[in-house]
Amino acid sequence: MRSDESKFSIFSKKKTVETDPSQLKIPTHLAVIMDGNGRWAKKRMLPRSAGHRAGADNLKNLCKNCGHYGIKYVTVYAFSTENWSRPESEVHTLMELFVEYFDRYDPELEQEGIRVRFTGDIAALPENIQAVCKRAEEGSKHRDRMTLIVAFNYGGRREIVQASQKLAERVAAGDITSDQITEELFAQNLYLPDVPDPDLIIRPSGEERTSNFLVWEGAYSELWFSDVLWPDFGMQELTDALIAYTKRDRRFGGLSEKKDDV
Ligand code: FPP
Repeated sequence: MRSDESKFSIFSKKKTVETDPSQLKIPTHLAVIMDGNGRWAKKRMLPRSAGHRAGADNLKNLCKNCGHYGIKYVTVYAFSTENWSRPESEVHTLMELFVEYFDRYDPELEQEGIRVRFTGDIAALPENIQAVCKRAEEGSKHRDRMTLIVAFNYGGRREIVQASQKLAERVAAGDITSDQITEELFAQNLYLPDVPDPDLIIRPSGEERTSNFLVWEGAYSELWFSDVLWPDFGMQELTDALIAYTKRDRRFGGLSEKKDDV
């Protein structure tokens, strides 16, 4: 390998910014809205189900690529509380893919040291789906290189409503008073209170909105959008997102820590 070449052949030569992982600021938690499967299939005159299958395959690549960069948590939006309004056949395909996925890819997830967790209204899902979640979570508990969080039957608003219900019950039971509800206590009642908030949320496919994804947790997340459709979103696109993230100045409502900012 020539010394001026990137360590990773997948990186295009036109890159002007160093793409060595040590040159990048790496988010602890990356979240991805896997959008564009339908359009990917349409472009190829394939059924939408083929797009979802390609999208599910690409999740494997995302995990590998994020593992390479040392990202600790990756949350992906696989099925929203609003996706039930899609045609029954499409909902069925997505459920089927979900059931297949974790058994089929478990050896690869194991090899990569990937723990699997789920976020969403899991208790409202059919029992066979809940069983898949339980099996995948239990079987991967010991892995600690990276955590893949799959948002399934997930809606940010529903998550907030359910947290509010839990707290309202505690107030009604006299366990706490309403003025004891702080942001911290509220966050402890969300689906995965031990997971840090996402640093960066990526949405491919040209749409620029967050669609009820991680509404509370994403309050201060950096956003990055790409025109590439999800099944084609690879190492190059992830690297582009990380390069952009590296240049962002996260202030969380405060002032910049950069010395030249007065
Ligand atoms: C949105 O794209 C995508 C979804 C609603 C489903 C995402 C699901 C997967 C990638 C596969 C399932 C995941 C697992 C974990 C097995 P869209 O189809 O609405 O895209 P479009 O806007 O181009 O129609």
